[in-house]
Amino acid sequence: MQVIVLGSAAGGGVPQWNCRCPVCQLAWKGDPRVTPRTQSSIAVSEDGASWVLLNASPDLRAQIAATRALQPRVDGRDSPIRAVVLTNGDVDHIAGLLTLREQQAFEVYGTADTLALIEQNQVFDVVSKALVRREPVSFEVPFSPVPGLTMEFFTVPGKVPLWREDASLVIGEESGSTVGVTITSAGSRLVYVPGCAAVTDALRRRISGADLLFFDGTLYRDDEMIAAGIGTKTGARMGHLSMSGADGTVALLADLPVARRVFIHINNTNPALIDGSEEHRAVEAAGWTVARDGMEFSL
Ligand code: MLT
Ligand code: MN
Ligand code: ZN
Repeated sequence: MQVIVLGSAAGGGVPQWNCRCPVCQLAWKGDPRVTPRTQSSIAVSEDGASWVLLNASPDLRAQIAATRALQPRVDGRDSPIRAVVLTNGDVDHIAGLLTLREQQAFEVYGTADTLALIEQNQVFDVVSKALVRREPVSFEVPFSPVPGLTMEFFTVPGKVPLWREDASLVIGEESGSTVGVTITSAGSRLVYVPGCAAVTDALRRRISGADLLFFDGTLYRDDEMIAAGIGTKTGARMGHLSMSGADGTVALLADLPVARRVFIHINNTNPALIDGSEEHRAVEAAGWTVARDGMEFSL
């Protein structure tokens, strides 16, 4: 299995267009300690010819331009991108579908809930329904979007997308709103969980024994956006666990056997994005990698 990190940042990217938090300030200045990052997505292939995207970020066009494996290979119209698998309906995970218009056939997989959000937004009809099949996927029912790879959705505590929040909001619900994905090929297993509000026993069982884990690295501290004076929400309110603390991801997953663990979907306020920072060193010392765009893994 080949894996390419297309985008490692959470919504907004690094730096974010309207942000001068401490991390974004370094990024705007070109400080080498903060590498700019695009929004959350990975590409996976078994044969190197057919690729599936896990989520389609608003930065997808730039991500394709930076990734040779995803560029057209034959004359005329062509793309190695055969499918897009959506883990939720957040803007940073679906807006890239609009980049994939222009009469190219591929498939979109998601829960019935996530596909309904796309169905209800007419702008997505620009991606021709005649050519681009939308395939609803149920939990724990294997599907194979590209040759040699089998995927399965599992529930993850989450919430509806920010743009669909209303008075009925339940943070941490296990529904079709937010899912994790297990990707298996002959002999290897990748687990992808870019958004997660809580660690359950079922989630720990899913993750245990993975060859590679990508996990929600949105914030380092639950209140860091408030502390930076740029927002009023905690990570918990946004449906994201934080990296640090007794109830953070590093601690909650520490005892699980996982060959390689990587934080992805990292918000621009997260100090672990600063190479050499205390927070960066702490997560690395705990065995985690802070993802960067363009990182490749071979399983
Ligand atoms: C999230 O991950 O919480 C969302 O992407 C937030 C957003 O849509 O801005
Ligand atoms: Mn997001
Ligand atoms: Zn920022």
